[in-house]
Amino acid sequence: MRMVDIISKKRDGHELTTEEINFFIKEYTVGNIPDYQVSALLMAIYFEDMTDQERAAMTMAMVNSGETIDLSAIHGIKVDKHSTGGVGDTTTLVLAPLVAALDVPVAKMSGRGLGHTGGTIDKLEAVKGFHVELTKDDFVELVNRDKVAVIGQSGNLTPADKKLYALRDVTGTVDSIPLIASSIMSKKIAAGADAICLDVKTGAGAFMKTDEEAENLAKAMVRIGHNVGRKTMAVISDMSQPLGYAIGNALEVKEAIDTLKGEGPEDLTELVLVLGSQMVVLANQAENLEEAREKLIAVMKNGKALQKFKQFLENQGGDGSIVDAPEKLPQAKYQIEVPAKDEGFVSEIVADEIGIAAMILGAGRATKEDEIDLAVGLMLRKKVGDAVKIGEPLVTIFSNREDVEAVKTKIYENIRISDEAKTPTLVHKIITE
Ligand code: URA
Ligand code: CA
Repeated sequence: MRMVDIISKKRDGHELTTEEINFFIKEYTVGNIPDYQVSALLMAIYFEDMTDQERAAMTMAMVNSGETIDLSAIHGIKVDKHSTGGVGDTTTLVLAPLVAALDVPVAKMSGRGLGHTGGTIDKLEAVKGFHVELTKDDFVELVNRDKVAVIGQSGNLTPADKKLYALRDVTGTVDSIPLIASSIMSKKIAAGADAICLDVKTGAGAFMKTDEEAENLAKAMVRIGHNVGRKTMAVISDMSQPLGYAIGNALEVKEAIDTLKGEGPEDLTELVLVLGSQMVVLANQAENLEEAREKLIAVMKNGKALQKFKQFLENQGGDGSIVDAPEKLPQAKYQIEVPAKDEGFVSEIVADEIGIAAMILGAGRATKEDEIDLAVGLMLRKKVGDAVKIGEPLVTIFSNREDVEAVKTKIYENIRISDEAKTPTLVHKIITE
């Protein structure tokens, strides 16, 4: 088999066979095919697209390019939730203990944040002592015993995807539905998921800026899941503004505690209930979505969800007492209000730019090597659709530096006030098999 023939075949709009896809992924991963040939193929895929058969083959070829996590020792159906990334997206922190409280096993592999989006591990590390360095045996045992554990990303999962993603980044081929969908799905499958619940974000803070793009991506991933034997569903949710009020690591842990008690922000609570209901049904712990939702609300109200969060933190070395005393979380030295300069209604809170404002404060990383400050971040005081008077706080800045002028400027540039505005719809669509 020759790479040049595979490139020409795709260039001319023909369907590649599974053998051809396996060949190029395998040989590229070990360094037998040069970047320039793979670049040409990626560009051909960008223009010619991939069929369902090719997408499924591409996904599984990437899964098989490296290590895979075998979760078969964990009892029950392992449902993994994946978000395409957002700002102040506290959902995983809430969902993991929440569905575990209903005996849905959560064996979660998580990452750190980069750029305007945060990472679940960073947020959890705001809890003193918490760590994700578990052996595979401990991880499996914890999930079997208490239904929830989180580990860090293993080094050699989907190496083909790592190489391809880096190459796509410098060859103008990131924005391709078959390439994005196979990239995301390969990582979930390699991490051992039996069923996958996708939260595809749409809007300014999201990877997909329009509903149409988000829906295309969601449908592509659901179809791949179906074709490779993993039950998959997707929720398309709004990320035109940040989710909830808190953006920043310790601030989001506090927000998660409130939400687990049923006292969280309306949008975050609703998204958690929508995604959580799907997960509970996928894991066969409820007959239908209505029953699942009622059960989730019940464990929020009766304290079981919060208790599960405490147990999960303590199992991984964390100080569980923070669930009852969140003031023990890292605290910023200064709280600085950002007052509104106009009156009317908040009409826009540009999510990615507000995420960058939090990053500048030190809540996130500009590069992988950056250290983050777990205490700092932003608390929105208004959301889109809220009425506001001159002088009322729009945002509270939590900072360890007194000088926050650059952050304030960015906030003013990215929160708009108009004569009228309405609250955006949170869940745009649900895509199932
Ligand atoms: N996120 C991924 O994991 N892969 C892509 O290709 C794009 C976004
Ligand atoms: Ca939040």
